[in-house]
Amino acid sequence: MTETKPRDVQVAEIGANTTVLRSRTWDRLRFEIEYARQKGTTANSYLIQADKTVLIDPPGESFTEIFLEELYHHTYLQRINYVILGHINSNRINTLKALLGQEAAPQITFVCTRAAEVALRSAFPHWNLRVIVANAEDTIDLGQGHVLQFIPTPTPRYPDGLCTYDPATRILYTDKLFGSHLCDEPVFDEKWKLLDEDRRYYFDCLHASQFRQVETALDKLAPFSAIAKIYAPNHGPMVRYSVSRFTFDYRYWCERQQVQDLNIAVLYASAYGNTAILGNAIAQGLIQSGAAVQTINCELASPAEITQILQECDGFIFGTPTLAGHAPTQIQTALGIALSSAARTKLAGVFGSYGWSGEAIDLVHTKLQDAGYRMGFEPIRVKFKPTDETLRECELAGAEFVQTLKKTKKIRAPRQTGVEVQADRTEQAVGRITGSLCVITTHRFSKHQEMLTSWVSQATFNPPGLTIAVPMSQGEATLPTIGSQFVLNVLKEGRNLRRFFLKSVANEDDRLGAIDTHPANNGCLILDEALSYLECTVQSRMECGDHWLIYATVDNGKVLEAVGVTAVQHRKSAMQY
Ligand SMILES: Cc1cc2nc3c(=O)[nH]c(=O)nc-3n(C[C@H](O)[C@H](O)[C@H](O)COP(=O)(O)O)c2cc1C
Repeated sequence: MTETKPRDVQVAEIGANTTVLRSRTWDRLRFEIEYARQKGTTANSYLIQADKTVLIDPPGESFTEIFLEELYHHTYLQRINYVILGHINSNRINTLKALLGQEAAPQITFVCTRAAEVALRSAFPHWNLRVIVANAEDTIDLGQGHVLQFIPTPTPRYPDGLCTYDPATRILYTDKLFGSHLCDEPVFDEKWKLLDEDRRYYFDCLHASQFRQVETALDKLAPFSAIAKIYAPNHGPMVRYSVSRFTFDYRYWCERQQVQDLNIAVLYASAYGNTAILGNAIAQGLIQSGAAVQTINCELASPAEITQILQECDGFIFGTPTLAGHAPTQIQTALGIALSSAARTKLAGVFGSYGWSGEAIDLVHTKLQDAGYRMGFEPIRVKFKPTDETLRECELAGAEFVQTLKKTKKIRAPRQTGVEVQADRTEQAVGRITGSLCVITTHRFSKHQEMLTSWVSQATFNPPGLTIAVPMSQGEATLPTIGSQFVLNVLKEGRNLRRFFLKSVANEDDRLGAIDTHPANNGCLILDEALSYLECTVQSRMECGDHWLIYATVDNGKVLEAVGVTAVQHRKSAMQY
């Protein structure tokens, strides 16, 4: 993303009597990990104007003013009979307040799930709101064939999730399903192949940790998916050209979660949302490292559910805010369940947002340690709102947790069978593959970053190109994206440059500062002591098991030292770098 434009609302006709209003931002909307790809986003709202008028999913408060201004141009507020809410949150409530605040709109009837109704009524305690609770068998007839049908799709993250189908246009309004965070001109997904990574990233952030409930939602949606011409999600391009492919992708991504070897529970409570944001970033690190994750908001889960999840998981991570010197009651209850029912062999972790003292994080940590649990990472303590930096730490902590868990499992597993001995031999055999030791440098979001790798290989003569395998745990913010540029610094044998790049994560920021560098034409850093360097542009990325395979073309390069040979990484086992 190079261009920053002001927020606006894009309007398009998408079917009979049906308009989409896409509130757009080219900037990162919020800190949450789901926006880490920094491609902006759209908040899609829909207006159906038949004999009756319905507004579906007004945007959050970031867009309230520009949205309402645009809405005036398309309908009188007095004409809006229904507002359908695919889910509700505090951001959206602020827009509803502005909408209802207009004297013109007291006639509005809200259509939502029972859970959303409760939130709505508590947000408007002094209003006598008209609300229809939508159940699966309910319909609302707007006239001219628009007989809306409703599909409640509750998930842990969106317990009030509601999808809507309009048979007149064959549009399925999918709320948080089938979206992506991406801001661009095309309203539809003409170039849907280019959307793969954004769609997958969005799924991983929002849905991978609730894949069971997403599968149930897909089952409920199946009769409508089979006939729908368009999916109308809450974010990103609308889905017209890849409805069946995208539906298949969701099924496949859910199935992949099921077959993961490691299953990790992230249990949290969050009064103001900060701890929840940290939990999502940790979950993202876990998922990218190949673990299945269940994220549990302890305020919404029953003790029986928590007990079952804690018994089934391989490791668990608690997230808690500190309120009046304590952890919230729900966390204390969940902790009690963990201490009484989760095997001591499980790996544990603790994180939380706090204001000034953060006792709750220490309390949970101490109790788990005293009970004999090993910790997968040092407790993460974040003062109030997380920053980009702290979210990155959370992602890395998730990756660290999985690595530790994998090692622990390997140590514990009895190594008896012939199959396992063969597996060891295979690992050793594959480990004999060597690679040139290189440092990749990138320059994204005004920040220089680097990555040590020996998994580089020439791939093409014409154009000159190479492949690099990058672990999924690398985290989206530092992973080269398609079209982005980097420098591949090839290290020289005998010059111990690699030591600078093996330091702990804590020293991450100092690494490039500790050695001599100068900028390449593409803005990334060349290590002065490298044997040679190549300026490259990423052409494609392929998902391969636990790594991304990146294909990049070489724009130009130079040998910095005519004498000397390339440093080579020798390994004993294929299971380590
Ligand atoms: C009523 C109240 C009491 C709080 N008490 C403490 C406290 O005792 N110690 C502390 O470190 N922070 C305290 N905080 C700050 C919160 O821990 C902080 O706002 C944190 O970001 C909340 O996390 P959450 O957004 O996940 O709920 C308090 C905040 C509120 C609103």
